[in-house]
Amino acid sequence: MNIEEKVRKTLAELGVNGAQGVESLFAELQKSAEAERAQLIARGAPNQAQAEKLGKALRDRWLARNGGLLSQVDEYWLKPAGKDLKPAVGRQFNELRRFTGELEFDRLIQALPLHKEACPPTELPLASAAVRPAPRDLTLPGLRRPLGSIHPVTRMQREIEDIFLRLGFWIESGPEIESIYYHFDALNIPESHPSRDDWDTFYVDSKTVLRAHTSPVQIRAMEKYGAPLYIIIPGKCYRHDNPDSTHSPMFHQIEGLAIDKDITFADLKGTLDFFAKMLFGEKVRTRFQPSFFPFTEPSGEVAVSCFVCDGQGCRVCKQSGWIELMGCGMVHPQVLRNGGIDPDKYCGWAFGLGVDRFAMVKHDINDIQLFFQGDVRFLEQFG
Ligand code: FA5
Repeated sequence: MNIEEKVRKTLAELGVNGAQGVESLFAELQKSAEAERAQLIARGAPNQAQAEKLGKALRDRWLARNGGLLSQVDEYWLKPAGKDLKPAVGRQFNELRRFTGELEFDRLIQALPLHKEACPPTELPLASAAVRPAPRDLTLPGLRRPLGSIHPVTRMQREIEDIFLRLGFWIESGPEIESIYYHFDALNIPESHPSRDDWDTFYVDSKTVLRAHTSPVQIRAMEKYGAPLYIIIPGKCYRHDNPDSTHSPMFHQIEGLAIDKDITFADLKGTLDFFAKMLFGEKVRTRFQPSFFPFTEPSGEVAVSCFVCDGQGCRVCKQSGWIELMGCGMVHPQVLRNGGIDPDKYCGWAFGLGVDRFAMVKHDINDIQLFFQGDVRFLEQFG
């Protein structure tokens, strides 16, 4: 069976039921990616246009959001993997994703040598790679390569994911169009809560909303996997917020959820303190203040001492010395119950953060709208 066939079968269908099987399956995939990249680079391209065509074809084969090999690994291997295999598959998937970063278009183009003697078209590995060397006028000025780069919000999301993957969490996802039950009821959000108002939340119909936060996936994951559970949930969220320098009607969150026996608030503090130090530097301190969310009890807001001025007060922290990071708390027992987990046996913590705002803080960007305007002059600064 070739890799195209393998990635369209679930692990169960492939007869893989242990971590070792998962490892060798991913090793095979990585070897293929490595070989295809090496083959392309060894052969090179006769001109810039062909280099871009070849680079795009290889990039799309592996990384295209719809139908790329990695998206199929996500769909057929990671998502349906059982509770026992999920951490191993998640880890391997993340490594493969890191490795296949080499197949991003801009990196391939940079590595691809241009020479007239590039291989004849029939020998190229990719079907769409027909190359006919064209004569070049060497007196023409050079062409500027239009390089793309990873969007700063995606970059930030990956940086955050990497820290939690190292801690043994895996990545879970859920629908952006969500039912009232998962979005409000199961999260203990009462009928009278202002967020239920259609001035705050986009309603698709009376029973369905565009999710305003990633917290509903907590319940879905509890139902799907039970306890213990260590996951992060990145994804898009939508709110009826007028666009301004810190608000966008569409933005990105990452939810964290840990459920196990004997979990305490100290575990939450320790984990988030470690996370902040990994992201902003060893010197930063974290501050926890009481807050309120209907789905956590007790609830808190986490801030980090300003990593630019070390808490002295500057433009980035608006002279306060502190930067607000996220909401968090111990999962409410009723929420555990709603997810089918016995709160007398298990407890847990959760947090939710805004990825766009993290990227703003990290890069000292004063207007969130810049992320969504597609202005190349802004985006190319993050290449
Ligand atoms: C929540 O959404 C809670 N679900 C977080 C949570 C999860 C608490 C688990 C406890 C346990 P909040 O409404 O504060 O919390 O939103 C979280 C983050 O989303 C904010 O800190 C902010 O960074 C980001 N955010 C919210 N609205 C917008 C917006 N319109 N534009 C950009 N970012 C936003």
